Amino acid sequence: MKSVIVYYSYTGNTRKVAEILAEYLESKAETTLIALKTLDESDKFLSQALRAFIHTRARLEPTDFNLSNYDLICFGSPVWAFAPAPAINTYIDRCFGINQKPVVLFTTYGSGVGNQRCLDYMQSLLIQKGVSSFKRFSIQQFKTQDKEFILSQIRSYNIDLKS
Ligand SMILES: Cc1cc2nc3c(=O)[nH]c(=O)nc-3n(C[C@H](O)[C@H](O)[C@H](O)COP(=O)(O)O)c2cc1C
Repeated sequence: MKSVIVYYSYTGNTRKVAEILAEYLESKAETTLIALKTLDESDKFLSQALRAFIHTRARLEPTDFNLSNYDLICFGSPVWAFAPAPAINTYIDRCFGINQKPVVLFTTYGSGVGNQRCLDYMQSLLIQKGVSSFKRFSIQQFKTQDKEFILSQIRSYNIDLKS
């Protein structure tokens, strides 16, 4: 059994959660982390927010879009203007081999405004790709350094290969 975590992180919060989730899953299944890197993301808050808000697709550095070998697939994004980061939109558009597989969606956020909308958008893209089993969790940015808290959230959502 294998799992994969695909994530985008600009300031490191989502990366932290992705790494803790990987450590947790690794005890149950071989786990791969895929960190998305963009070729065209802005470094300006307003531009990042606008691009995310209108669901822009980012240009990605070369990465593996083939998820056929994995049994559990996780996607993580920061919430940007009530939406996923553009890198995640691109990856979800282009990935394959996920039909009917269990998916975990996770976000990190600041105030929490727009968090559900962000998760709903990621989920809607994946439903169009034949995914029907979702688990979702979110961690506020101030809690992303708190490993025990994050593990407790992961455990409480019962995230494992039986999702
Ligand atoms: C451009 C931008 C837009 C953001 N929009 C939201 C938002 O709509 N709602 C929210 O709760 N947090 C928002 N945040 C806060 C981020 O979601 C939060 O800091 C997140 O943990 C960053 O993750 P990262 O460190 O992995 O990049 C925004 C941050 C940025 C940079």
